Amino acid sequence: METGVLSGQVAVITGASGGLGAHFARVLAKAGASVALTARRLDMVEAVAGEIAGAGGRAMALKLDVADAQAIGPAFDEIEAGLGPISILVNNAGVGGEGLALDLTVEDWDRTFDVNVRGVFFSAQQAAKRMIASGVAEAGAARIVNIASIASHTVLPGLSAYCASKASVAMLTKSLAREWARRGIAVNAICPGYIETDINSDWFKTEGGLKQMKGFPRRRLMGAEDLDASLLMLCGPATRAITGTVITIDDGQSLPGGG
Ligand SMILES: NC(=O)c1ccc[n+]([C@@H]2O[C@H](COP(=O)([O-])OP(=O)(O)OC[C@H]3O[C@@H](n4cnc5c(N)ncnc54)[C@H](OP(=O)(O)O)[C@@H]3O)[C@@H](O)[C@H]2O)c1
Repeated sequence: METGVLSGQVAVITGASGGLGAHFARVLAKAGASVALTARRLDMVEAVAGEIAGAGGRAMALKLDVADAQAIGPAFDEIEAGLGPISILVNNAGVGGEGLALDLTVEDWDRTFDVNVRGVFFSAQQAAKRMIASGVAEAGAARIVNIASIASHTVLPGLSAYCASKASVAMLTKSLAREWARRGIAVNAICPGYIETDINSDWFKTEGGLKQMKGFPRRRLMGAEDLDASLLMLCGPATRAITGTVITIDDGQSLPGGG
């Protein structure tokens, strides 16, 4: 695992205890990056980190709740002490935030924004400070990849808070890319379509979920591996001139007139 396109890079993945985050950690490790897996469920990030290390990768696991803004900096310090200067951040941690607008509580709204927006912003800020301080940014290797969603630009019915939070992630991506362009940090986002994970598996077992899937142009869900090529591109040297880009990879799910 040492000799890949990301050999020598140190990648932090938030929300890496399962779903897409665990997958991204495996993909980046396979490409040669040392990976730091973070999430609230420490036993689960430890299990994935152990699996990566068993396959010859370099991985560490840390407990981190990204809604706790004060905890992000110390966690990133611990990662740098263990693996070296952070060069890649995959801002993946996210919650679904479902709930009809008429029923949504202040707590529901805040929970969605605390994780999906505030967590993304302060993780990016803490990573960027370290990328600049260590010289990684000046060397042109600093990459931040935000995991947004087709909800950034497409209405998903019954998910107003989630859609608003993911639209914020897309705009933050561009704002941070602009602000940090001259600093040497590339900030980009991926907007995936529906991929079955814990965030939506209950929904896709319901009649409504199956009906929604049959309405997609290709009548299927995507696989996490469909994001691999874009993730690797946005984390690697090919992204020298790509910043502020929001890439939709959705198997055509957000195209109009599906079904
Ligand atoms: N699956 C899809 O169809 C899809 C489509 C578009 C975008 N996305 C986005 O992709 C990302 C990953 O989603 P997923 O499908 O893999 O969902 P998932 O299986 O539910 O995983 C979500 C991850 O986020 C972590 N997380 C939740 N709250 C957190 C917090 N406060 N602090 C740190 N970590 C937290 C969870 O870990 P802990 O519970 O251990 O903290 C878990 O590892 C999310 O941003 C989601 O919005 C998913």
